[in-house]
Amino acid sequence: MGLFQWLTTLLGGTLAVQGVLALDLNVDDEDSLKSAAKQVATDMITYYHARDSKDIPGKFDGTWWEGGSMFMILMSYWWLTGDSQFNQAIQDGMYWQKGDDNFFPSNYSQYLGNDDQVFWGLAAITAAEFNFPERAGEPSWLSLAQGVFNTQTPRWDGSSCRGGMRWQIWPYQNGYNTKNAISNGGLFQLAARLALYTRNETYATWAERIWDWSASTPLLKQKDWNIADTTSCESQCTDHGDFQWTYNYATYISGAAYMYNYTDGAAEKWKDGIDGLLQTSNQFYPTKGYDGADGNILTEITCEDRKLCDRNQLTFKAYFTTWLAYMTTIVPHTVNLVFPKLKTSAIGAANQCSGGDNGKHCGTRWYAPTWDGTSGLEQQMSCLGAFTSVLVPFKNQAPYTAQTGGISKSNPNAGTNGANNQMPQLNDINTSDRAGAGIVTAIVITGWMLAITWMIRGG
Ligand SMILES: *[C@@H]1O[C@H](CO)[C@@H](O)[C@H](O)[C@H]1NC(C)=O
Ligand SMILES: *[C@@H]1O[C@H](CO)[C@@H](O)[C@H](O)[C@H]1NC(C)=O
Ligand SMILES: *[C@@H]1O[C@H](CO)[C@@H](O)[C@H](O)[C@H]1NC(C)=O
Repeated sequence: MGLFQWLTTLLGGTLAVQGVLALDLNVDDEDSLKSAAKQVATDMITYYHARDSKDIPGKFDGTWWEGGSMFMILMSYWWLTGDSQFNQAIQDGMYWQKGDDNFFPSNYSQYLGNDDQVFWGLAAITAAEFNFPERAGEPSWLSLAQGVFNTQTPRWDGSSCRGGMRWQIWPYQNGYNTKNAISNGGLFQLAARLALYTRNETYATWAERIWDWSASTPLLKQKDWNIADTTSCESQCTDHGDFQWTYNYATYISGAAYMYNYTDGAAEKWKDGIDGLLQTSNQFYPTKGYDGADGNILTEITCEDRKLCDRNQLTFKAYFTTWLAYMTTIVPHTVNLVFPKLKTSAIGAANQCSGGDNGKHCGTRWYAPTWDGTSGLEQQMSCLGAFTSVLVPFKNQAPYTAQTGGISKSNPNAGTNGANNQMPQLNDINTSDRAGAGIVTAIVITGWMLAITWMIRGG
């Protein structure tokens, strides 16, 4: 036996032994993808049903925004697989948390950030685009997305930086003086999707306003297509917190994709944005400094190798994979830019799914050859995003718009009741719940920050 053959046999043997436990996945086979997706979705819902707050539909322990983002990923699972077993739980949670038709429910609104709310709005527009079943007597999915848009745009803040969405809504919250990429990118994406769905120009005008404003700050540096996570009001949005996160890139890319399609590809700025940001997103497929990384596996580079991702950050890859995959249905030239690496990432993700009590729970670090010992709802969500994203070309269907078969009814005035936008009394704030308020937790370990700075520059 030659050395090469011997190595292959040895490797094959190892893989086979692992295969007994790890999730089986052939990324070129629709049925294989569907069954892997079903497995990770089922384990994700098991976590969901086991939470302490299970009597409150859609509310997670210690965090609120993740409910919306989980439902968004689950709706995509249903759209791509036809498996409707989770639909009732999705409807229950979405309607329970709808607030005044704007996903700003009074139980939590005292400590929500703009980014928390906008994720539920993105879930609602996703439901509209998929013709996800609506319940009689409930507001339409489209109107719930419009309700979020209608409550957020009045918060556009011209008192510093000549515009922009603040991260937090209330002055007593840490992060009120911050303008961040996900709050602005999230509303940008929501406005762009509303524009394409309804063809109402108001939404397109807003989308373009948010994009252009972002480009006047470090949140969207068009010169090198870098997205800073944060900038501050005090500096008039000239300083920048440079942590690199997958979901910041994906939310701006996705919004640009909807605008590209909305303008029928006529406006160069959207194609330039998509191509530029896709290029810089390659940083999330690292080759250096990571065991087992080969430049083809999606990695949350700012926290994964140091095992410092918080629960929010553990979900970001779900949005990156999902939003980029759907982009290919409305921006055809991106198919070959996106899927090769989404496929290798899905394979990496599947290799991570060999933990927990059933030997199929997923870990965090998709580049690691074997299960990394972590598990949880968030890991399941990211893997579900990875598997379903690769199913998108099998379905090969763009999300609906009102022109192409979308049936969700428009209510341009949804969510403008206003009561929920008033500043609450300070003594209403439930501080024990505040842990879940912010998406991006401030990181204060100086040594670690230095290391990261070095890593990003060096990488
Ligand atoms: C608000 O809190 C009450 C009391 O815990 C709970 O019964 C209700 O379901 C909550 N509403 C939402 C929208 O979470
Ligand atoms: C917009 O999306 C549709 C799919 O709904 C696609 O057929 C069309 O080619 C896209 N437009 C452009 C300019 O790529
Ligand atoms: C378009 O959207 C704006 C903003 O919500 C609204 O005021 C207007 O009535 C809408 N127009 C139509 C035709 O729906």
